[in-house]
Amino acid sequence: MTSYKTMKKLILFVLLLFTVFAVGACQDTEPTEPTIIPTEPTVIPTEPLPSSPDDFDTIEGKVAWYIDHMTIEEKAGQMIQAERTTNGGQSGALTNEVTLYRLGSILNGGGNVPGSNTVAGWLQMVRLYQNASKYTPQRIPLLYGVDAVHGHNNLLNSTIFPHNIGLAAANNPELMYQIGERTAYEVAQTGINMNFSPSIGLIKDVRWGRTYETLGEDPQRALGLISPFIEGLQMYNIAATAKHFVGDGYTTYGTGINGGLDRGNSIITMDELYDIHLPLYEEAISAGVKSIMISYSSINGLRMHESEELITNILKNELGFNGFVISDYEATNDVSGSTFEQKIINTINAGIDMLMEPHKFDQTHQAIINGYNNGDIDISRINDAVSRILTVKYEIGLFDENRVVPEADLRSAESLAVARQAVRESLVLLKNENNVLPLAKTDNLLILGPGSNNLGIQSGGWTLTWQGTESYNSAGTTILEAFQAETEGNIYTDINDIDQADAVIVVLAEKPAAEWFGDSGNLSLNGQTAYQANVDVLQAIASTDKPVIVMLVSGKPLLVTNYINNFDAFVMAFLPGTEGLGITDVLYGDYDFKGTLPYTYPRLLSQSAHTMLDTNYNESDYLFPYGYGLRYQS
Ligand code: GLC
Repeated sequence: MTSYKTMKKLILFVLLLFTVFAVGACQDTEPTEPTIIPTEPTVIPTEPLPSSPDDFDTIEGKVAWYIDHMTIEEKAGQMIQAERTTNGGQSGALTNEVTLYRLGSILNGGGNVPGSNTVAGWLQMVRLYQNASKYTPQRIPLLYGVDAVHGHNNLLNSTIFPHNIGLAAANNPELMYQIGERTAYEVAQTGINMNFSPSIGLIKDVRWGRTYETLGEDPQRALGLISPFIEGLQMYNIAATAKHFVGDGYTTYGTGINGGLDRGNSIITMDELYDIHLPLYEEAISAGVKSIMISYSSINGLRMHESEELITNILKNELGFNGFVISDYEATNDVSGSTFEQKIINTINAGIDMLMEPHKFDQTHQAIINGYNNGDIDISRINDAVSRILTVKYEIGLFDENRVVPEADLRSAESLAVARQAVRESLVLLKNENNVLPLAKTDNLLILGPGSNNLGIQSGGWTLTWQGTESYNSAGTTILEAFQAETEGNIYTDINDIDQADAVIVVLAEKPAAEWFGDSGNLSLNGQTAYQANVDVLQAIASTDKPVIVMLVSGKPLLVTNYINNFDAFVMAFLPGTEGLGITDVLYGDYDFKGTLPYTYPRLLSQSAHTMLDTNYNESDYLFPYGYGLRYQS
């Protein structure tokens, strides 16, 4: 019996007791004042109390009321997250569907932005959808989700922070909170209330296109960063999403999309699962994360999205996760089942509460209803899913008519200061022959390389678009612009001026990419994920006697073994985002280096896959060991 029904019976019983007591009291003692006898007999309503969730003080009571009063159509709708459509102009054409299918949530994937990509444009779009949810019997407000994985990265002129791998190099828990809070601050300004962040996975094979989204190879380092990050990201009543459960970065090369790593198969022993991977999610749960996203990948041959053992038995029951579990984008397609309906049924029965079905929301709606009507999905599973979703909606204040949306305030001084500090602390000094670093501001510098003057390249994937873009025309400072702003000497960009320079800075780079598009088969400086210009520029300056300072702007450790002897200094810069001044802060010596490698840097391609469990690990075999990082002041 639902708690709501229990409570209703309790209320009726108390009313009955009160009535009996009141009548008894009249009989027992002479009333000093005539008791007004109701002209009509006191009739205890046999019909359900005319009630609403507002009759209950607790979230549990309110949610129980909804579970008791919602139809299966309404419950099915709450379990679906559809995507705003790009053909619908400002709001997307889905507002009617929100009403028609009682949808519980809307997302926009990377790069699917409103017609006006401004705070006001986003706010108007989100409010159109929230308004559409009011034209439903239950008027349950929507969750609107985006990937704000290194700032509010779909939004123009937002503050773009270093991607996670650089934050792992910085390894500063307080800074993680600040980055999370600043991200939440800019996300909240646009009316968004759900963020598919943080990615908390570990990396095994650094060739993965999502290496830059992980917190490195060391679970201990990651564990120190997860809670403060989630705490910050969930400020301003935003629901964060820990992802992708579980073992997403441990896939075996060749088992993923196009024979790569992404969405492949992870071979993980139960000991590794419990010793390395689950503690990360225990940490996220203890931090109060509101949702957890399931990984596309498989574990030991079974798609995560249909693993009842891992999702229900372990994540929900054993680890005690009481938020809601969401599928990844159309991931249902990959699970077993002869029909789409059967795949949906399998996904829900495995324990997934909300289906991220951007386009098949109508088929998904019908599949849930059919599954229920045919007895393939028990009502207790549906009620559990809807209860979890509604509970989160209450917990983040979605039902509160007075929910506060901060005024537009992108790239505030505070946000830029946090981002600039994050850039500084993410840089890792790997070589510094003859202390060529720090540079003097009076030095004349020649600055070359594909990563030297492009905001999109230094921001990487998930920036303005899903894959990121070299034409990222947003606010920010490129590496070259930072040197031009800070120098007291001359800055050259033409190799023919090399004789005028006191030193040469070469910024090597990887192309912005996301997911399987970023899988690198060879970690080559001029491989499919990087630029031929990397090799060309290194060859062009190979004979110079000028000090050569090389920086790598990349989501993964590209192989530099054949070139590094010509580097006087080598700095791993990862994907720093928009605040290039953080780089000159350190290279001019205003700040010392702080970062350390969050992964082992391979000398050879054959060393691309490494975990903390490798028993035959000899760090001298690698180019640089995990945790390595030099300082000016040793
Ligand atoms: C993607 C990603 C996931 C993201 C989701 C929504 O495919 O795997 O990290 O949150 O879709 O954009």
